[in-house]
Amino acid sequence: MAPTAVQNGGSAGQELSKAIDEIGVQLTLSKDVLDKILERFHERMFHGLANDNQNMLMIPTFVTGVPDGSEKGTYLALDLGGTNLRVCEVILDGKGSFTMKQQKYKVSDELKRGKAKTLFTFIAQSVKTFLESESKTGSASSGEELLLGFTFSFPCEQTAIDQGTLIKWTKGFDADDAIGQEVVGLLQSCLNELGVKVRVNSLVNDTVGTLLAHGYQSKGPALLGGIFGTGTNGAYVELRKNITKLQVDDPLEPAPTYMIVNAEWGGFDDERAILPVTPFDNQVDREAIRPRHHAFEKMISGMYLGEISRMIILSLVDRLLLFKGFSSVKMNTQYAFDTAYMSAIMDDKKDASDNSSPTYKVLAETMEIKPENISAEDIKAVRRVCDIVGKRAARLSAVAVAAVIKHHQEEVSPDNKEEVYNLGVDGSVVEYLPNFLDWVREALREMVGTETEKKTKFGFAKDGSGIGAALCALQASKQEKDHHHPHLHKN
Ligand code: BGC
Repeated sequence: MAPTAVQNGGSAGQELSKAIDEIGVQLTLSKDVLDKILERFHERMFHGLANDNQNMLMIPTFVTGVPDGSEKGTYLALDLGGTNLRVCEVILDGKGSFTMKQQKYKVSDELKRGKAKTLFTFIAQSVKTFLESESKTGSASSGEELLLGFTFSFPCEQTAIDQGTLIKWTKGFDADDAIGQEVVGLLQSCLNELGVKVRVNSLVNDTVGTLLAHGYQSKGPALLGGIFGTGTNGAYVELRKNITKLQVDDPLEPAPTYMIVNAEWGGFDDERAILPVTPFDNQVDREAIRPRHHAFEKMISGMYLGEISRMIILSLVDRLLLFKGFSSVKMNTQYAFDTAYMSAIMDDKKDASDNSSPTYKVLAETMEIKPENISAEDIKAVRRVCDIVGKRAARLSAVAVAAVIKHHQEEVSPDNKEEVYNLGVDGSVVEYLPNFLDWVREALREMVGTETEKKTKFGFAKDGSGIGAALCALQASKQEKDHHHPHLHKN
């Protein structure tokens, strides 16, 4: 019979609970703190719109139109940005719906951290394999030129809708020689070498894809596409005239009124002016592939939340307050406490002394903590730790959302008081972390008020990076036909 979690009440339990209260204080963001972060965030948005190479990059995407659901056509989409590479064929029916065929290919750590050419040849080869298998089933290649939207979810300096230079890798990718290379050209040349007859006509960040996909699916323009997944970031609709750093060769007069900006908000406050970073965050950052980069992302996104929780749990073990002062090899392994386990733990409604609870299973079976060292108090403690870390992530995410809404109200559409704020979101954290959106809403009420919060609509832009890339390929060909294909001029 499996052992029942040991009761560990009395003073040890109280000490543990007190220790978590104290940690909770360090990770709690009051309304005052949120307001200050929001103010800085909004100020950095303007700063990034005016200046190149800022921590929050504010990248102009050259996408000057958003869909409304009436878009039609067949496009290819490629999605690189997380664990898998996906190749999709998307058929947009012009009524806000679509059909999609897709294949996923695992991107190994060797590919993520090897040579750029090897990675991009792998990507091109995956497109080839997809098209070959689709042509057997009679779709995809009808002989016409196939247009492809390339969702590449890393910071790139875009110089046109179909051009962008990789600035840095994030989320565990590290193919160093790709930095500074123009990624669409790189992909196109690999496709050409393999004889794949596809033209890459747009470079799409997943947030831009999410924004476009949400507009299409909800049949009304969205003002934000936000990703809260392995990484975090947002793209929003900006007034062209506000992007003062952009000097373009624009063949259209008058120049477009709007342009989507990819904020790259994961890099917000890398200068550490405002975020209340704890020693737990510092340890996660120090041991990450890119220390001192993407501070905001490291407090919010799925790649890191489990890791912050692991740091806190181990600190309690070191103080002999948790698991009788013992851990396990697994518990001491970087990134072993996956954010998905946090979701299971935060969702756990079972009694803390019930050893069939998801929390008990994660700790005993997955993390290999010895059952005799796990008490009911420990179970409660781990649940509280996950809640504290998850809630902070949600409140920080709300800052970014609030900043975009505030910006929209003050800058983009100051006269329109009645509108609904239509936001498309996607990613494992917003989708699976229990209470995440409720906590975001709570913090939004504190920052922008109940009235605005009520008008804010979050919609899941399912598969933004696939549908969104197809929509971007369509938008790019539209802009091309209208001879509206501006390029950035660098002096
Ligand atoms: C990348 C962004 C991306 C986000 C979400 C971040 O690490 O820098 O480009 O949008 O992850 O995938």
